[in-house]
Amino acid sequence: MMSVLSGLIRPEIADLEAYTPIVPLEVLADRLGLPVAQIVKLDANENPYGPAPAALAALQATATYHIYPDPEQTALRKALADYTGRSAEEILCGAGADELIDLVLRLIISPGDAIIDCPPTFGMYRFDAGICGGRVISIPRRADFSLDLPAIARAAAQGAKAIFLTSPNNPTGNPLPRSELLQILELPLLVVVDEAYIEFAEPEHAPVGASDLLDRYPNLAILRTFSKWAGLAGLRVGYGLFPRWLSEQLWKIKQPYNVSVAAQAAAVASLAVADELRARVQAIVAERERLFQHLNTFPFLTPFPSVANFILCRVEGRDARELKLALERRGVLVRHYQTPLLNGYIRISVGTPAQTDALIAMLAEVTR
Ligand SMILES: Cc1ncc(COP(=O)(O)O)c(C=O)c1O
Repeated sequence: MMSVLSGLIRPEIADLEAYTPIVPLEVLADRLGLPVAQIVKLDANENPYGPAPAALAALQATATYHIYPDPEQTALRKALADYTGRSAEEILCGAGADELIDLVLRLIISPGDAIIDCPPTFGMYRFDAGICGGRVISIPRRADFSLDLPAIARAAAQGAKAIFLTSPNNPTGNPLPRSELLQILELPLLVVVDEAYIEFAEPEHAPVGASDLLDRYPNLAILRTFSKWAGLAGLRVGYGLFPRWLSEQLWKIKQPYNVSVAAQAAAVASLAVADELRARVQAIVAERERLFQHLNTFPFLTPFPSVANFILCRVEGRDARELKLALERRGVLVRHYQTPLLNGYIRISVGTPAQTDALIAMLAEVTR
């Protein structure tokens, strides 16, 4: 009976490695025997300042939680059109940028189709492609984390349908140079630029990123999120800027109520106080530079320059995972990856000045 039942599972899913989710904060605090408030959480690139007060007020003032959300996300898309300078028709919102990655892949990938990713990079492209039965052509970055353009062109010529480019890249923190993006846009595939961290690279104004190229390149799509700059990771809301041929089809397959009433209200309220949120982004950017200087003083760490809200560090002369676990026992969470490319690295999110101080004190303690 069991073999009959397990035979019901699509083979590409049965063969898929499960995604490793993060351990919830409360569970981890319990395990470590520490109060949640004492945990210094620098492992998921969240915003240490939380949502804008105006977003919290909007959540409290909203009276329609018993009604399904607006499937067309009308108010949010209008506010985003003002914010991005693009037309509302090009904008589609998702339950985080994650949902948009999933939707784009479900739209274009049939079993056996290929996408390109450029590791080390965000893991969701590979994961969601796998759910669709897609193949991932991995074109590893060079030692300085720049892209291998000739290899990308070769993979595109072999028929890959899309490439996912992260700018700034997670976890390496480097931006995608405009000249390289322009070369890739000439290739015959869909180019998805994931700008989850773009506000930290352009902290002075509403971000432009690659959006000024949308009119020239119909194969360009851009993904963004409220999780990082606007501190709404827990509400799950992101958006994409899509060419019409793509957005028309995405609208067909998106779940009607994909962005909750709460998420839409908080996102609209956040955009109304974008200046205030930008001031926080600027504080995080300033803190990033201070954190970088501190990390540089530890002989076993090599931090890489970053234009995002995290810093990748190579760990030399000691085990990176051991270092992560030693920090964790002291209530400081940083990210370590069990992948061959990143085994010897940790990624540290930029927190408040007090969180930086706690991290640095613990780094000194564990390595004394
Ligand atoms: C590059 C990148 N894209 C997308 C996401 C997911 O964003 P969201 O919270 O909007 O789903 C993340 C989250 O860490 C990310 O690093």
